[in-house]
Amino acid sequence: MPRFERHVFVCHNSRPADAPRPSCTADGKSDLHTRLQQLSKEAGLAGKVRINKSGCLDQCEHGPMVVVYPEAVWYGNVRPEDAGAIVEEHLVRGRPVERLRVAEECLNTKTCPHRD
Ligand code: FES
Repeated sequence: MPRFERHVFVCHNSRPADAPRPSCTADGKSDLHTRLQQLSKEAGLAGKVRINKSGCLDQCEHGPMVVVYPEAVWYGNVRPEDAGAIVEEHLVRGRPVERLRVAEECLNTKTCPHRD
């Protein structure tokens, strides 16, 4: 079996409403993950792209978060209605969806202006 060309992680982490950091799903459910899987399959990417639920990706203030490897493209504030653009533009054509990308200066830094 050939290896996957891309791996997509969709954060499914859920925290209580009074937690110090937000979470990507309020109840651990995600239409986003389901939609990405459906559209990916319809686009003929089964066996080429793997789409997984993940735990916290530590970019919580920008959630719901999605990251695509091997390019390490991070998408933030992703809604189920954005799934089509990610599949068609990024996963099929190889062009990241710029409007959904999290700014480089916000990734993996405690000085991100969006963090408290
Ligand atoms: S809860 Fe989703 S990135 Fe932390």
